[in-house]
Amino acid sequence: MIKLLFSLLGIFTLNTANTTLVLNVPDNREAGIIYYGSKLGQAEVDNLVRAGYRPQGLYPAYGLKGTAETAIAVTQADGNKTLKLDVCSVEEGTWEGGRTITVISKDPVYPITVKNVFKSFEDQDMIETWAEITNGAKASKKAHGTVMLERFDSGCLPIRVGDVWICSLYGTWANEGRVATEKLERGYKVIKNIDGVRNSHTSHSEVMISLDGKPEENSGRVIGAALEWGGDYELRFQTNDSDYHHFFAGILPENNEYHLEAGETFKTPALAYTFSDEGLSGVSRNFHHWGRKWRLAHGDKERKVLLNSWEGVYFDINEPGMDQMMGDIASMGGELFVMDDGWFGDKYPRLNDHSSLGDWVVDKNKLPNGIGWLVKQASSHGIKFGIWIEPEMTNNPSELYDAHPDWVLKADGRDNVYGRGNTQLVLDLCNPAVQDYIFSIVDNLMKENPEIDYIKWDSNMDMRSRGSQYIKYQSHLDIEYWRGFEAVCNRIRAAYPDLTIQACASGGGRANWGVLPWFDEFWVSDNTDALQRIYMQWGTSYFFPAIAMASHISATPNHTVHRTTSIKYRIDVAMSGRLGMEIQPKNMTEQEKDICRKAIEEYKQIRPVVQFGDIYRLVSPYDDKGIASMMHVAEDKSAAVFYWWKIANFYDEHFARVQMKGLDPDRMYKVRELDRIDRFPLRYEGISFSGKFLMENGLEIPSSNSADSELTGDWSSRVLYLESN
Ligand code: GLA
Repeated sequence: MIKLLFSLLGIFTLNTANTTLVLNVPDNREAGIIYYGSKLGQAEVDNLVRAGYRPQGLYPAYGLKGTAETAIAVTQADGNKTLKLDVCSVEEGTWEGGRTITVISKDPVYPITVKNVFKSFEDQDMIETWAEITNGAKASKKAHGTVMLERFDSGCLPIRVGDVWICSLYGTWANEGRVATEKLERGYKVIKNIDGVRNSHTSHSEVMISLDGKPEENSGRVIGAALEWGGDYELRFQTNDSDYHHFFAGILPENNEYHLEAGETFKTPALAYTFSDEGLSGVSRNFHHWGRKWRLAHGDKERKVLLNSWEGVYFDINEPGMDQMMGDIASMGGELFVMDDGWFGDKYPRLNDHSSLGDWVVDKNKLPNGIGWLVKQASSHGIKFGIWIEPEMTNNPSELYDAHPDWVLKADGRDNVYGRGNTQLVLDLCNPAVQDYIFSIVDNLMKENPEIDYIKWDSNMDMRSRGSQYIKYQSHLDIEYWRGFEAVCNRIRAAYPDLTIQACASGGGRANWGVLPWFDEFWVSDNTDALQRIYMQWGTSYFFPAIAMASHISATPNHTVHRTTSIKYRIDVAMSGRLGMEIQPKNMTEQEKDICRKAIEEYKQIRPVVQFGDIYRLVSPYDDKGIASMMHVAEDKSAAVFYWWKIANFYDEHFARVQMKGLDPDRMYKVRELDRIDRFPLRYEGISFSGKFLMENGLEIPSSNSADSELTGDWSSRVLYLESN
């Protein structure tokens, strides 16, 4: 609940524990941003303008601004293409996590009002901003009063020119979350996504902005920004002939023009930003704290260790097979089994990806005793049961499509454009009947089987046909789809608040803070190869905490890249996220099962540190130093997990010792190696070192594992647990 206070116009400061945002809000003129960075005292804020810090547009509008990039562009009801936003008032407020400042600006000629809200999350050093754009034309003149919103960013931020670099994430299916690092030069840098459904495969709507040259993991001033939106977006930097780079973020304007009707208010998604002078890792820690506390579903609850059936059996679902997998994961100490794709379809059984999405009834040929029997079996094995669905989609053929061909996205006068399996189609979430139907999928499953603990919610296709058979304005498709998605998710969460739900979208297509409020985690990638996962999980951890990153031990040769890695290496990489398995345990040797059993037991011991701890990335795989290394440190610094993974393997290698970070220099930490396969313990096993020593010197890590040849592989790795005495 936001409480409002009355304020006089002038300079406004929004502080968090370690940051300050200074706004210039002058009466009857354009509002500006003067400063965003480390925390300032009041005297320094007062001096800013005197020191030559000139305000830069807080929400610049198109049409009367020359060549500067703008955050909002409209066509007025009479065709006029200009907008002028002059401040008329400001509201200040408080909420349980911090404060709000709302700058209210009006066009002096046209009835457009814009509220730019800034909301602080004091303890997490995060600030959210968004815009609320109102068309104040009288409803009685409705036909004449519609304003076209052609650009409607969530917010913008000026960044003083210097040696400014950005890190963004790029990729594709099976290669998500790759880091691109580049210097900002003159001109435009645009990051955008036009998938419609999955928005974090080819690019991410988050970015790191380093103010002090090429970014470092643990030093330097860095701003992090994340657009909280599941649909199409655009992040852009304009560097013109001024002293500033101008950063803008919002819903993709291209083909998303919005008809703002008389009396209507359009609220943009929020743009969250944070600042740290402790480098990229510092910004990540802020995102992780904020995400776990305010955004991620159940961000304060430990996640279970699970086995997912997909890479183990694919579509080959049957009762004995599921029961065997449940027994196996239970015997290895797992806590949950998830039955993936292939369990449903009556008239059109789901034998492969060519049919049946939409027909969420159990395939009686595969599972004659239904879901109920599986849930009971899981319980008799002492574990929980989870299930895969892909509720936003259908196939032609499916009984759903036969009954409701008008429920799919399809442009008028065009044939269907199919996705996966050459038969898949996206359902039209703009349509309330489709929203009801999607809610009923989860509702029916849960009503029939209230013990279901986990749902893997998948989404494996883009909006290939940009047309809704339901809505009036086709350019509203992306916005209305996501409004529908939110409405469905809100209903599901109201009815089933405790359910664990994974966001999967052809792997990592939904790693986004716009989606995660309803989801407990996301599937990082369909690529489970441990070596490639190091690179993907590294990038993904820039913005998302380990608790949200589903990370599974799978078979070798890996199903995507066909690489063979040791079971230890696969475990050591998977342990740095939410640990699970994605394998047919039947095909594992008893020795491999024993190793996994031990790893799961050890993971349960370190789980609070991994899932709630602070990340310190130490040696980046992108720096090609032959290894990658990072840590999770408990918030009270009582314990830490240190990961060291080789990413190349040559004879005669000599790596620098890795200086640790984030420990308490004055505490002693006892070292214990986890997932040990070596014949002999490390020389410092059980020995205690001060945090100061570990952070200044690091430990000697042998460059290979000395173990039986069937247990070692090309790339060795180590995980050390440090526990303070
Ligand atoms: C997508 C997901 C996989 C799996 C399959 C099932 O590709 O990313 O994990 O669930 O769908 O068809």
